Amino acid sequence: MKDHFKEKSKNWDKGDVQVQGAKIIADAINKKIELTKCMEILDFGVGTGLLGFDIAHRVKKVYGVDTSVSMLKKLEAKNTPEISIETYCQDIIAKPLGRAFDGLVSSMTLHHVKDLKAFFETIYRDINENGFIAIADLESEDGTFHSDNTGVFHFGFEKDQLCRIAADAGFSDITFQNINTINKPHRDFGVFLLTAKK
Ligand SMILES: C[S@@+](CC[C@H](N)C(=O)[O-])C[C@H]1O[C@@H](n2cnc3c(N)ncnc32)[C@H](O)[C@@H]1O
Repeated sequence: MKDHFKEKSKNWDKGDVQVQGAKIIADAINKKIELTKCMEILDFGVGTGLLGFDIAHRVKKVYGVDTSVSMLKKLEAKNTPEISIETYCQDIIAKPLGRAFDGLVSSMTLHHVKDLKAFFETIYRDINENGFIAIADLESEDGTFHSDNTGVFHFGFEKDQLCRIAADAGFSDITFQNINTINKPHRDFGVFLLTAKK
């Protein structure tokens, strides 16, 4: 599996866009979803854990899945006996984890997922009854958010199209709201949070 984040992992946690962006996403999730100390949560595309560690303080346990060994190495260096994320380096659509979670969170990873139908069907199956998903990513953009679009399968997402895919997979109570704007010198990019229930 090619590690598209090998170079980016080196300075990921030093980027303001990444750190502030993940904090805003974590705050939006905390506002929208009642996280409890009984919950076991999967962070899809956990990266270095910018979102996952914030969530980990509020729940029983966070599991993090990612296809980049180098991002996960950075995460594992931040694990402590008090707060840690259990990591899996695999593509869960091709190779499921074989267990279910009370909820799934995800920050800025969905645009790297080629087959959205397969993704939503996979996570629907892997979320417990009454569980939730909370997925943040870019609103529809013109392909200029990334300077290199290697590994990027979607230039952001349209609300109606994405909500339809989630609904077709079985999710209900679907919401889609703008939660942030990332300012780049050439234009602004909207970030949404999609939430839904199984
Ligand atoms: C833009 S980064 C976001 C990382 C982290 N969620 C954050 O907000 O800082 C996207 C992450 O998704 C991972 N990724 C890409 N495709 C993936 C897939 N199919 N399954 C799991 N992780 C994937 C990348 O390796 C990378 O760590």
